[in-house]
Amino acid sequence: MKFHVLTLFPEMITGGLNPGIIGRAVQKDIISLNVVNIRDYTLNKHGSVDDYPYGGGAGMLMQAQPVFDAWKAVAGDKIPELNTASEGGTQRDSPPEGGEPGGRSVRTVYLTPQGNPFSQSMAQELAGEKELVLLCGHYEGIDERVLEEIVTDYVSVGDYVLTGGELPAMVMIDAIARLIPGVLGNESSAQEESFFNDLLEYPQYTRPEIWHGKSVPEALLSGNHKRVSEWRLEEARRRTEQRRPDLYRRYMEKTELIKRLLRDKRNHIHMIESLSRGLGEILCFEGDNILIYDKKSKVSMVQAADEASAARIAAMVPEDTELVMSTQESLNRALEERGFRLDCATWQYLYTEKVPLSVRKCEASHVKGVLQPGEASRPGIPMSQTEIRRLGQEHLDYVSARQEHNDRRYVKICIELGNMYGAFAGDELVGFIGMHREGSIGLLFVEEAHRGEGIAEALEAFMVNRMLKRGWTPYGHVVCGNEASERLQEKLGFYKAGKIVWWLTGDGNRGSI
Ligand code: ADE
Repeated sequence: MKFHVLTLFPEMITGGLNPGIIGRAVQKDIISLNVVNIRDYTLNKHGSVDDYPYGGGAGMLMQAQPVFDAWKAVAGDKIPELNTASEGGTQRDSPPEGGEPGGRSVRTVYLTPQGNPFSQSMAQELAGEKELVLLCGHYEGIDERVLEEIVTDYVSVGDYVLTGGELPAMVMIDAIARLIPGVLGNESSAQEESFFNDLLEYPQYTRPEIWHGKSVPEALLSGNHKRVSEWRLEEARRRTEQRRPDLYRRYMEKTELIKRLLRDKRNHIHMIESLSRGLGEILCFEGDNILIYDKKSKVSMVQAADEASAARIAAMVPEDTELVMSTQESLNRALEERGFRLDCATWQYLYTEKVPLSVRKCEASHVKGVLQPGEASRPGIPMSQTEIRRLGQEHLDYVSARQEHNDRRYVKICIELGNMYGAFAGDELVGFIGMHREGSIGLLFVEEAHRGEGIAEALEAFMVNRMLKRGWTPYGHVVCGNEASERLQEKLGFYKAGKIVWWLTGDGNRGSI
């Protein structure tokens, strides 16, 4: 991920972030930090960047021109018509194709006490961006006209006023960067966090065992992982209830909903996984009236207690939803009335075993994808001399040409998120699989010439194992009528849910992540 910081005090940002974990991630090229001095872009011969506010009032304002030109220097090449725009805040009336009004195709955050409160879920959402521009204000603020042109998000780090946006920008970069794989260099801490997602952290202790007469809690010395884990969860709960009753209420609501959904796990695995992986948030939970919304993937998952509630739940589905998952025809009708279009009916499959599937490598000509006589019920998956590797943008054309919906934008996002894997026979890509943004396994494809070699099994087993490693329950949706895929799920040991999950599509309101 690339962070661009537009500031009048670049040394604050570099001095604040370069030492430590973020600096190490920059050195390792896991993230990049581009700090731009707004003053370098002033056209004023004295180098000034501020002036008095029209209408009077205290203090000075940052002028539009240097801010716009600094922004244009980092974001302008992604906005075609900006390359021909004249100097200084050129006013555009109509949005460029594929962009938002004013051409704001690069997410640009203005740090201001008037913004939306920064939170862990906002950090998670922004961690999905490829590039982020952070604009730091100073003095009494920035000329409104340039903000209107370039800013996509107004963010505050708290209800207090600081002298500038540099500290808030650093707070945001730190919180976002640590969510990017490789930055913390420890995958299990992310796993642990998703488990304790909605709770404050439990107390921690290090040597000596006794200090000022106080001993380390006995459970932590027991060497019993289960006991340690239970103790930590209990302490995290207690601490959250005491210190942050608001968070605790949310945690309790989520726990209660997951408990309810687990009564019929097969039919609700999409909702359970969305909540337990920390993706979806609860917009409605009143008995069997349920609406979960995953902001990042723009997927809504719905359920209504009865016909009468269907219209109310459908009305609550957020406007920018791109995909609704429903298990009730009454809801489908209500959603269609709201403009969503029925896309397909699917069977939900889930893998409930905790043991990973073994992916065996063997000669294509020897095994050809069939189970060997006498193999155990959880068989090794035969696989031609094929290797599974993560796909990059160089594979975008290949995948989007073969993916069922031929949705290039969506495939691009999945690749960007590191969620697409390919099977390679030598250097040749012969099949692929992915994880959809809301968390299900999908996008499976194998070249006709290589079908029957066990490549589909190997790809899916690979995805299952990745998910199991993170403590997730692997699941996926098979379009009704796709018998080959149904056979594959059963062969791998997946269970089929009883209810159909319908997919309804909406337009959403943003063109990309
Ligand atoms: N700039 C000044 N105060 C701020 C705050 N609380 N949050 C974000 N940016 C700011």
